[in-house]
Amino acid sequence: MLSYRHSFHAGNHADVLKHIVLMLIIESLQQKEKGFYYLDTHAGAGLYRLFSQEAEKTAEYAEGIGRLWQRDDLPTEVDRYVKLIRKLNYGGKELRYYAGSPLLAANLLRPQDRALMMELHPSDFPLLRNNFKEFENVTVKIGDGFQQVKATLPPKERRGLVLIDPPYELKEDYDLVVKAIEEGYKRFATGVYAIWYPVVLRQQTKRMIKGLEATGIRKILQIELAVRPDSEQRGMTASGMIVINPPWTLEKQMKSILPYLSTALAPQGTGSWSVNWITPE
Ligand SMILES: C[S@@+](CC[C@H](N)C(=O)[O-])C[C@H]1O[C@@H](n2cnc3c(N)ncnc32)[C@H](O)[C@@H]1O
Repeated sequence: MLSYRHSFHAGNHADVLKHIVLMLIIESLQQKEKGFYYLDTHAGAGLYRLFSQEAEKTAEYAEGIGRLWQRDDLPTEVDRYVKLIRKLNYGGKELRYYAGSPLLAANLLRPQDRALMMELHPSDFPLLRNNFKEFENVTVKIGDGFQQVKATLPPKERRGLVLIDPPYELKEDYDLVVKAIEEGYKRFATGVYAIWYPVVLRQQTKRMIKGLEATGIRKILQIELAVRPDSEQRGMTASGMIVINPPWTLEKQMKSILPYLSTALAPQGTGSWSVNWITPE
């Protein structure tokens, strides 16, 4: 049933987009001294060895983080993200590890911030738990992350970010995302919600967006990065982040770095990007 393992995909172009957006949202929340709550509903293992059998089999990271690793012309925001990954490579020149969303976030959190990382897979959960032994303000749990949206919101801090990053291996995930957002928003309307999605079949993405529009929630920003045009054939051509209540700086930041990313990650010239409001203010 649970066949998706993120270790095959860690560091690919979709992770690059997702993790840059995640970093920028956290940085923006940290403009205020008051702590916030971070919920990672689908955490994965947290840290990935790029020289593992799984990662080497697909080598997706080579067309993601691998395309940024050696560049000396990175825009500042992208440079901060690559520096974070470099830190998790012990500052080394060689790209050996890639950090997933929970570890990236945990490395950015301050003592006053707090996080809950959820993972359902019985093989990935022990890896995740192992990667978080040192973090006092991070809780890791095995279980359904969607349910924690309902169970843990609103946070006591009254400030928070929820990252929803399912595998979409089961089609139901598209509907479960919309349901979780409705439930979360009802309890915590001022929270920031970031939803990752793949573009494999455009119809599925469109349906989820329609579902989000139908909730009546305002301030929904869609950020997308394609490495190839849409195609009926198998495989992910693009990915995106849908952000509810985005920090006011995010739209401008993404518009300034996406032209660079779409060229750097698709050097063959097939890349494209977009930033638009699904529903404005
Ligand atoms: C795309 S990966 C997550 C990657 C991670 N967020 C990152 O950016 O590094 C999705 C993960 O969700 C897990 N998963 C699937 N269904 C879940 C559920 N209902 N609750 C929590 N985790 C789930 C999978 O085992 C997988 O590890």
